[in-house]
Amino acid sequence: MYTPTPPMGWNSWNTFGPMPTDRLIRETADAIVALGYREAGYEYVIIDDGWMLRERDENGLFVADPEKFPYGIGALADYVHGKGLKLGIYSCAGTRTCARYPGSFDHEFSDAKQFAQWQVDYLKYDFCNFPKSAKGRQRYQTMSMALRACGRDIYFAACNWGLESPETWMRSVGANSYRSTPDILDNFPSAAEIAQSQLNLLHCSAAPCFNDMDMLTVGMFGKGHVGLNDPNNKALAACMEQDYVTQFALWSCMGSALIIGADVRSISDSMRRLLQNRELIAINQDAECRCPYLVYHEGAQFCFLKHMSDHTVTLVYANLSDEETEVDCIFADLGLPCTSGVRLRLRDVMTGEDEGVFSDHHPLEIPAHGCRVFRGSFVPA
Ligand code: GAL
Repeated sequence: MYTPTPPMGWNSWNTFGPMPTDRLIRETADAIVALGYREAGYEYVIIDDGWMLRERDENGLFVADPEKFPYGIGALADYVHGKGLKLGIYSCAGTRTCARYPGSFDHEFSDAKQFAQWQVDYLKYDFCNFPKSAKGRQRYQTMSMALRACGRDIYFAACNWGLESPETWMRSVGANSYRSTPDILDNFPSAAEIAQSQLNLLHCSAAPCFNDMDMLTVGMFGKGHVGLNDPNNKALAACMEQDYVTQFALWSCMGSALIIGADVRSISDSMRRLLQNRELIAINQDAECRCPYLVYHEGAQFCFLKHMSDHTVTLVYANLSDEETEVDCIFADLGLPCTSGVRLRLRDVMTGEDEGVFSDHHPLEIPAHGCRVFRGSFVPA
């Protein structure tokens, strides 16, 4: 059984690509604790692609690359557990991973057993090099059965990039989260496109299986594997702080998994404060985990409302365009017509300031690439 809220953690891919090492994972676990990330809720330290040797051993088992992981994965899991954190690992439903290391196709049960023996807590399960004759839905089901039979609670983080409408079947195969998007790159258009692609899937992110909008790029500023050096990253400029604020606010409020992709050992103070913003995290981790209600979506602008378990609402306005804009939200669109006499007291979540008490409508400005988040409480008639 898992806490029925979106998973929070860190993953090696965005910054380190296929080069995770024992030292990196230990230092990251240390930093997650020392710099307050654990306290803020980040729990999983996830080794992505590139941790194993190119071939399995004579018994068909994975071999952790002895140069990258000289003490083995089991010893690393002990270290991570000693820090009060959990260890995640990566494999693939295909015959090879995306970086062409061995995949779990037809090895599901022995691989799950090996992960359990190593005391692994989380499996990211990718979709590269998947045989055309095989069925994705069925192979995710097979790995799910293998994980449930392996004798250990292992969080099943499926990652088929949103292909084959996973929102219609990932829940039924027992996944705990599933990537609902293609790979993120560290530029604003990439994050904006991902956020907009989720608007008609908002109703799908709910306990016990959450949309994973991909690892955050917050705090990378162009450095790292999916940064400006990535040949797929055609952006000319790295993200600005505002871009990251919008990304983190959207991922939090849309109910996505919150998996940091930057190097936590060196994230700037302001980006650390953003990633540890208690209010945004509390919205993401709300006990009821309600999926948001889309109020409007016009071009690069949209607004949604999320019902919170304490009978307040979270109101999110996004403007992903390059121009500042003014909007006037009509409360009838929120289900609050003026005839109700009920007003909303709004507090700006990002600044902590009181916005005032509003009836009928709420006019506001949203900066370019901006997102404004309000917590609203009802003021009865
Ligand atoms: C991709 C996946 C990325 C990363 C990479 C590793 O398919 O979406 O998040 O895991 O593979 O090769």
